[in-house]
Amino acid sequence: MLDETFVERGFEFIDHSAYLDVENSPSLHDLKKIFDLDLEIDQNCLFRKRCYLKMRWDRLTNQFDLAENQKYFQTTVSNKIDGGKVRQFKVMDKKILEIPIIQTLINKNLDMISEYAPLKKIDTLTIGMHFIRYLVNQDSASFSSPDWLHKDDEPLVFVHLIGLSRSALGGDNLIADDNKKVTHVIRLENDLDTLVLNKSVYHAVTPLGSREGVSVRDVILFTVESSDAQINNEEHNAA
Ligand SMILES: [Fe+2]
Repeated sequence: MLDETFVERGFEFIDHSAYLDVENSPSLHDLKKIFDLDLEIDQNCLFRKRCYLKMRWDRLTNQFDLAENQKYFQTTVSNKIDGGKVRQFKVMDKKILEIPIIQTLINKNLDMISEYAPLKKIDTLTIGMHFIRYLVNQDSASFSSPDWLHKDDEPLVFVHLIGLSRSALGGDNLIADDNKKVTHVIRLENDLDTLVLNKSVYHAVTPLGSREGVSVRDVILFTVESSDAQINNEEHNAA
């Protein structure tokens, strides 16, 4: 799926049916409950809640373990607003890894990652799982960070939709070329609809509003990078 065409094109939409099946779909309810109860307000945006879990995947042994260090670092190049500093988000309870839909999501993503040519020479990868809820009413707007076109630090990012209120406005994914001209607008609508991105394109998410009452957009960002990248960035930041 993440073939040569994807490497050049920079994005790929994966339909929810690739992740959801009869066996794991009942557990989506448990995952949604965690989004309702366990996320913490993001200090940088009152209309955003989040949690984070950093994992480590070893290609040779196929071991997928918790990373010892749960801090998150973004460069200022990728995020002018919140980059350049180590951020400590609430760490997600690792029990979430036992939920069937999360297990499917991880296994399917690792299958794709293991075949992804640009990362094939890297034996140890850091996998970041960001659980994010954008939460608004008619009188507010929620933004992602960064809030407009950018490229992430990580060479590969999966954006999984976990829930979108029917009353939600916006929250569309934009894809843009190197001149920052928007070329595609993609709406993740069904639970588990997924967008995969690499650094060949700029991307953004439009702000989220609400037509009526409270609206939410829940996503899991599943980021993939060389384990050396976060270590080097931490050292750089500490210096
Ligand atoms: Fe991004």
